[in-house]
Amino acid sequence: MCGIVGYVGSKPAAPIVLEGLKRLEYRGYDSAGMAYVRSDKLVVKQSAGKIRALEAKMNGAMPDVTVALGHTRWATHGAPTDVNAHPHADCSGEFAVVHNGIIENSALLKRQLIEKGHVFKSETDTEVLVHLIEDYYDGSLRDAVIRALENVEGTYGLGVVSSKEPGTLIAARNGSPLLLGIGEGENLFASDASAIVQHTKSVVCLDDGEVAEVTRDGYQIVDLDSVEVNKQVDTVEGDRDTIEKEGYPHFMLKEIFEQPRAIVDTMRGRLQEEEGTARLGGLNLNDKELQSINRIVLIACGTSWHAALIGEYMLEELSEMPTEVEYASEFRYRTPLVDENTLVIGISQSGETADTLAAIREAKARGARTLGIVNTVGSTIAREVDGGVYIHAGSEIGVASTKAFTCQVTALALLTLRFGRLRKLSVLQGREVVQALRKIPEQVSKILENAAAVEDLAERFSLAQHTLFLGRGYNFPVALEGALKLKEISYIHAEGYPAAEMKHGPIALIDHMMPVVCVAPQDAVYQKIVSNIQEVKARNGKVLAIVTEGDEDIAAIADYTFEIPETLDCLTPLLSVIPLQLLSYYVAVKRGCDVDQPRNLAKSVTVE
Ligand code: F6R
Repeated sequence: MCGIVGYVGSKPAAPIVLEGLKRLEYRGYDSAGMAYVRSDKLVVKQSAGKIRALEAKMNGAMPDVTVALGHTRWATHGAPTDVNAHPHADCSGEFAVVHNGIIENSALLKRQLIEKGHVFKSETDTEVLVHLIEDYYDGSLRDAVIRALENVEGTYGLGVVSSKEPGTLIAARNGSPLLLGIGEGENLFASDASAIVQHTKSVVCLDDGEVAEVTRDGYQIVDLDSVEVNKQVDTVEGDRDTIEKEGYPHFMLKEIFEQPRAIVDTMRGRLQEEEGTARLGGLNLNDKELQSINRIVLIACGTSWHAALIGEYMLEELSEMPTEVEYASEFRYRTPLVDENTLVIGISQSGETADTLAAIREAKARGARTLGIVNTVGSTIAREVDGGVYIHAGSEIGVASTKAFTCQVTALALLTLRFGRLRKLSVLQGREVVQALRKIPEQVSKILENAAAVEDLAERFSLAQHTLFLGRGYNFPVALEGALKLKEISYIHAEGYPAAEMKHGPIALIDHMMPVVCVAPQDAVYQKIVSNIQEVKARNGKVLAIVTEGDEDIAAIADYTFEIPETLDCLTPLLSVIPLQLLSYYVAVKRGCDVDQPRNLAKSVTVE
């Protein structure tokens, strides 16, 4: 995700800003840039790719300046290119802006600015800001920024530098974090404390609607009416590692708790309630082309493959689109039957998984159209497919995938709406799904509020040697995912099964030592899984059931239950998987395992 670092002081500013940007690298980005004023002239350096590409562009030599503003960009509007990288400069080359967030009315503002004669260089929403500042500048950079911000709708964390006022930086915030670092004879600001904590632990967190004027000797914070705001100076506790984890002991737990926000980001700007559908501009396919598709093949590995299975159920039930799911590693080496009417969709968090990439290439070579459901912007899969849907989960650092899974399932629900409305899904059915999707983030939060109950249950699982996860229908893939999560981070042997298959073999394993997790919300197959739970109990198995709120029937037979809110059948995986993620996390912690970097595993599997 985007990052901002600004420095004004007496030390060499460029290396400090670059170092700060490097500390934000873990958030993921696809281009970087820096602006500073040298010999009264504004200089802007931008580069697609990693920070080292930016350093190379600066010829390895750091400019001798004491004020600098840097940015790492995670592309939203416009591809990750040099030109789209921040900072963006105005027509006169006197102002430069870095920005996190989205300016929602940028298209309108851009048209108005072009009519006034402004020339735009990038495809970004951000560039409108710097042209507005240029327009409004009348002797005060701060006032020009405030007047520019009066025009914009959307979110921003903003940094501004200008050759008109070379010793000053302006920072502003609305909906995107920004904090000032207060030093001795130097001041900084950044979108994340980890970028500045090595310089100072005294920070002032900006609130929405606040603008800060920052110089070497001090800072002043005002609101958008230019009224001064007195803010408390806080002390940042902990080292860089703790800060990046935002107080969570592990990235995995942080990412589990980020899911309500991440799911909102996957859906942002895409749900169209009136029409009961979803807008997915990145598909690069018009209605006619979408209607010509007669089959979908979903290819993925691991957790992404489990998300694909849920997608298959959704696409077949709600859009009546024949859909198959394949392991990418199998697809690439067999003779897959695909043609120009087949849509092959690769699902990948990293966008770099070797098997998924090779399977997409194979599908393309055989004439299929390809799409990606990807998290990492600008990754190889995202670049090679004909179109796609970014899930916008934010960078996932814990090796065990959590928020990417729920965001992938959300993206598949959006795709289902898009196909469904072109095929069999009525507008009323579509609206029902849209309305239920809107409730999901709050429902996930509600489950997370109850995490302590899962932690208690984890105590009972931490000594197990084998476990079984059972589910049916939409929750069969959730059972697979629960088992994968547990085995990969706690090293307890875990198997996921469609619940009815249990009696065809695994039932032999069940005894009083064998915990069985049953994912059993009140959906279309509820009565069937109740029977399966009875079968486990009849053999003295210990049952933990994930049930819908208020389910007394299962509570009466299971050993433990954990409740989740009610939703549509197709969306239950978004809720039922959360306690399973928490369960695996807490079990692994109790067993003293390295949760974020489990043995033998890699976050991005770039070998086959
Ligand atoms: C499990 C996990 C892996 C990945 C798999 C695919 O927690 O993270 O199973 O899901 O390696 O990775 P991506 O989605 O990056 O293609």
